[in-house]
Amino acid sequence: MTSASHVAERLGDVRTRTLDVIAPLDAEWLTRTPDPIMSPPAWDLAHIAAYEDVWLVTRLSGAAPLHPDLQATYDAFETPRAARSGARILDGRESRDYMDAVRERALVVLAQADLSAAGDGLTAGGFVWRMVSQHEAQHGETLLQTLLLMPPGIYSPCADVLPPTSGGSRGPDPISLDGGRMIMGAPVGSGTLDCEMPAHVRDVAPFRIDRNPVTIGRHLAFMADGGYADPRYWSGEGWAWRHEVGAEAPLHWQRDGSRWTRTGFGCTDAVDPAEILCHVSFFEAEAHARWAGARLPTEEEWEFAARHDPSSPHDAWAPWGAAPHEGRANLGQVSFRPARVGAYPGGVAPSGCAHMLGDVWEWTSTEFDCYPGFRAFPYREYAEPFFRRGYRVLRGGSWATQGIAARTTFRNWDHPQRRQVFAGIRLAWDPA
Ligand code: AVJ
Ligand code: FE
Repeated sequence: MTSASHVAERLGDVRTRTLDVIAPLDAEWLTRTPDPIMSPPAWDLAHIAAYEDVWLVTRLSGAAPLHPDLQATYDAFETPRAARSGARILDGRESRDYMDAVRERALVVLAQADLSAAGDGLTAGGFVWRMVSQHEAQHGETLLQTLLLMPPGIYSPCADVLPPTSGGSRGPDPISLDGGRMIMGAPVGSGTLDCEMPAHVRDVAPFRIDRNPVTIGRHLAFMADGGYADPRYWSGEGWAWRHEVGAEAPLHWQRDGSRWTRTGFGCTDAVDPAEILCHVSFFEAEAHARWAGARLPTEEEWEFAARHDPSSPHDAWAPWGAAPHEGRANLGQVSFRPARVGAYPGGVAPSGCAHMLGDVWEWTSTEFDCYPGFRAFPYREYAEPFFRRGYRVLRGGSWATQGIAARTTFRNWDHPQRRQVFAGIRLAWDPA
C-alpha cells in the first residue's frame, strides 16, 4: 500500500539528486548550453516545476497554474530543444524558486489525496506521483548529459565508488538461449509509463547474446582494425552519418599520440580497456556488431535475457529479482562512469547476462513502436508522437539513471545518430 509519506519521501529523494547535480553550476552556466541539442540546465529545472504543477496540482485540485504565462515555454513540444537557448527563460534562481513553490503546493494537495487502489486512474496506487518522480529523474539524466560537456573547472564529481574487479578487456562470451514463450512489458496498473504497457505474450526464437556489454578494449580493437574506415561494417545511413560528423571514435574521445583519452565533467583521462564502452551512436553500435560477426539484439531478445526466468511464473522487474539495486548494478548517479565488466556478480540475470541494468543504455535493433493494445496514458505526448519515426529503442538504464526509472520493462528511445546518451553495445547472434 502506497502512503502519502512514502510518496513525499520519494519526491524529496529525487529532488535532492537534482539539486546535487546542478549545485556546481554558477548563474551563467545555468542558462547556457554547451550544445544546441541540449537544453540550458535552467530550462530543465523550470520544466520539472511546470510538469509537476500540471500533474500534481492543477489536474488533481483544479487550482490555476502557478505561472500560466510560463506553461508554453516549458512545454517540450511548444518549445523544442533547439529553441530553448534563444527563448526567454527563467534564470537559475527563478527556476529554483519555481521548483520550491510548486513543491509546496503539491505537498498540500498530496495531504488531501486518496492514494488507495480505488481512486481514479491518475491517483490509484499513487500513480501520478510516481510518474512525476520518474519524470524528474529522467531530466536528471538529461542534465548530466549536458554537464558532461561543460568545460573544466565547472563540474568535478569526485565519486570513485565502483567495485574493484580483476580488469582486462574481455572478448565476446555468447550465451545460447532457447527462447520460448514470455510475458513482455508491464501490466496495466503497475505504475510504469504507458509505452511499457500492456504486458503481452511473445514467442521468442532461439538466439545468442553476450554475457557482458562491449568493453572499451574491444572497441579499441574495432578501431585498430580500421572499423571506422570500412564501409562493409556500416549501413548506408550509418556510413553517411559517419562521414557527415567525421566520427573516428566514440563521442568525447581524443587521440593523444598513440593512445586515446576521454573527456568528461572537465577531466581528461586515458581510456580504460576493461571499462564498459559508452557514448556510441546506434550506427556505431551496428558497425561494431557487424565487425564482431554479430548483430544488435532485438528489444524482445533484450527483455528475454534481462528478466525471463523459466523457473518462475512472475518475471521480475530487475534481473536479480526483488532486492534493491545497491551493490548489484551501477545506477543512481553515484559513479559518474560505467563500471568494468564483472563488477556486479550479484546482479546477474537468470539467463546468465550481467550488467543488464545500469552502466550504459544498450541500443537494440528495434524501431520504437507501441505494444499491441497500447493506450496513451495519462497524456498523449509522452511516447505516442515518437512511435514509428525512426527512433531506436534503448534498454537497461545507465550509471546516470535513478532506480525509479530503471527496470527490465523500461523503454528509452533516441535518434540513431545520437551519442550524448550514456549508451553502449551488447552483441547478439543467431543460434550457432
Ligand atoms: C524517454 C528520455 C526520450 O527526454 O525526451 C522527459 C523522457 N519525456 N520528459 C526525453 C522525457 C518527457 C524522454 N526520453
Ligand atoms: Fe520532460
